[in-house]
Amino acid sequence: MLAALTVTAFGAGIHLPSVHGRVEPAQIATTAPFDKPGLAHVGPDRYEVYLTGQIWTFAPSEIRVPAGSTVTFVATSRDVVHGLIVPGANVNTMLLPGQIARVTVRFDRPGEYPMICHEYCGIAHHTMGGKIIVEPRS
Ligand code: CUA
Repeated sequence: MLAALTVTAFGAGIHLPSVHGRVEPAQIATTAPFDKPGLAHVGPDRYEVYLTGQIWTFAPSEIRVPAGSTVTFVATSRDVVHGLIVPGANVNTMLLPGQIARVTVRFDRPGEYPMICHEYCGIAHHTMGGKIIVEPRS
């Protein structure tokens, strides 16, 4: 049982929502860093994305980074339980209201990566998405 849990938790690349702080859901719009959702350049080839999920959008819904960037998503939900999965990249987490999730991933291949909500969040759940555009280095 313990071995199965360990393999599932660490071997299969499954990310449980890792708690890196909390924020009062009703005050997310006025609480840093979520008062300014978007991309921040935090070092050479390093970025942070302050992202919120809310019915039925991600903010920001489009992110552009150069290939070779390491991106940390700092994310939470403003209302109900959402999810964030990025096929083709190792991003798969739940977004719980007021709980801050952090996921770091490196984008080496240029292209367009969809951001998809993979937790049912209501009638327009299937429309909730966005994209990450990884631009070739010139
Ligand atoms: Cu948000 Cu499904």
